[in-house]
Order: sequence, then structure tokens, then C-alpha cells
Amino acid sequence: MNKARHIAIIMDGNGRWAELREQKRVKGHEAGAKVVRAITEFCSCDKDIERLTLYAFSTENWKRPRLEVEFLMKLLQKYLDSELENYLQNNIRFEPIGDIRAFSKSLRQTIQNVKEKTAHCDGLVQSLALNYGAHDEILRAVNKIKNSQDDITEAMLGNALDCKHNVDLIIRTGGDKRLSNFLLWQAAYAELFFTDTLWPDFTTNELEKIIKDFTKIERRFGGLK
Ligand code: FPP
Repeated sequence: MNKARHIAIIMDGNGRWAELREQKRVKGHEAGAKVVRAITEFCSCDKDIERLTLYAFSTENWKRPRLEVEFLMKLLQKYLDSELENYLQNNIRFEPIGDIRAFSKSLRQTIQNVKEKTAHCDGLVQSLALNYGAHDEILRAVNKIKNSQDDITEAMLGNALDCKHNVDLIIRTGGDKRLSNFLLWQAAYAELFFTDTLWPDFTTNELEKIIKDFTKIERRFGGLK
């Protein structure tokens, strides 16, 4: 039986969720943050799940209206401030990925603080992808190792990435069927699940069902059974 050791989620549909309720888009992000908490806690209780990587802010998200970007930054700050206790209680290690140099100093400090304070936790690893894009991640990795005397190997490049772990299962909520520059290297053999559910409506029950379906898939990794 397959185990979904590393699950990654493209959390899409916050804006539409809010618009359907005639609310401002940011209300959808607020509701989405609560679901991040619930899904993370659920995964931390499942011993088979080692990593949960969540696409929280992409390198392309800067193109959104300034006020929405500012709201997302504040929400992230608030989330991390209030989550530290929860991470520690649930033995969750926080390992962000992405290039956070573009964030404000105080947000960078908060991110660093949560990372350091949870570094000893050996339960679930929750990675938030922050100012993350797979192309950017790969380019930064290539630049780190480009002066190597030897030819670059798959292992060398893989180890220079922010996220050094292959993904087993990628879920995208919100109905679209694309990867949107998320974990392109690590997803080489990932199983992809798409659901129409908007992220704020996504539940632990639906995740449980997707994981159950995943466990039944025959994964051959390019070989034969
Ligand atoms: C996509 O919804 C979601 C995002 C751009 C960011 C994800 C953010 C959250 C889930 C909330 C904050 C997270 C944390 C960790 C505090 P969308 O706005 O693209 O939705 P749409 O496709 O309906 O417009």
C-alpha cells in the first residue's frame, strides 16, 4: 500500500469563496488560514505523513492588487504569531521554502523565529511556500552550485533546492488543473489530485478520502510492476 509521506497542496479558491458570499476577497484568505491550521493539525496526527508543503504565496502573487498583497503579508504574520504554540504542542517543525528576502524585516524575523523555535520538533514538517516559484527555486539552486569543479548531478541539484524531498501527492483545490510553478522538480513522480472544492471549504474528511484513493494507486516510477 502506498503511503502519502509527503503531501503538497495548492490552496486555490479563496477569492471565489468570498465573492460567492458577497464578501471581499481577503475574507476568503482569512477563512483559508483557518483551514491551513485544521489540515496541518490533522496531518500531524497521521503517523504516515511526514511532510506537508503548502503553497501560501507564489513569486507571481506580487502581481495582485497592493492591498491584497499587504493583507496576505499581515495574515501570514498573524498566523505565525498565533501558531507557534500550536506547532510546539503538536511537535510540528516549521520549514519554510521560497525566497523570503523580498519580505519585510519583521515578517522575516517572525519566520526565522518560528523556524528556530520549532527546529527540535520531530513530528510533521510543515513547509509554507513563501515567495516561492519552482523556476526561481531551481535557478537559485543552479547558481549555488554552478562553480562546482564536477559536472552537476541530479543529487547535487536536488540538495541545493529549498525543498529537498520528492512529493508523493499533490492536491489542488479550486477546480483548475495545473501546477502553477509549484514543486516542479520534486513532483516528478507525484500523483495529482484536483478537486472543485474551494480551499476555505476543504475539510479533513475530503483529505482523508483523497489519501485513501492515493493508497490504492499502483505507482511504478517508470518501471514495470
Ligand atoms: C489562492 O486563492 C490562494 C492564495 C493566493 C494564497 C493562499 C493563502 C491562504 C490559504 C491563506 C493564508 C495562508 C496562511 C498560511 C496564513 P485565490 O485568491 O487565488 O482564489 P481565487 O482563485 O478564487 O481567486
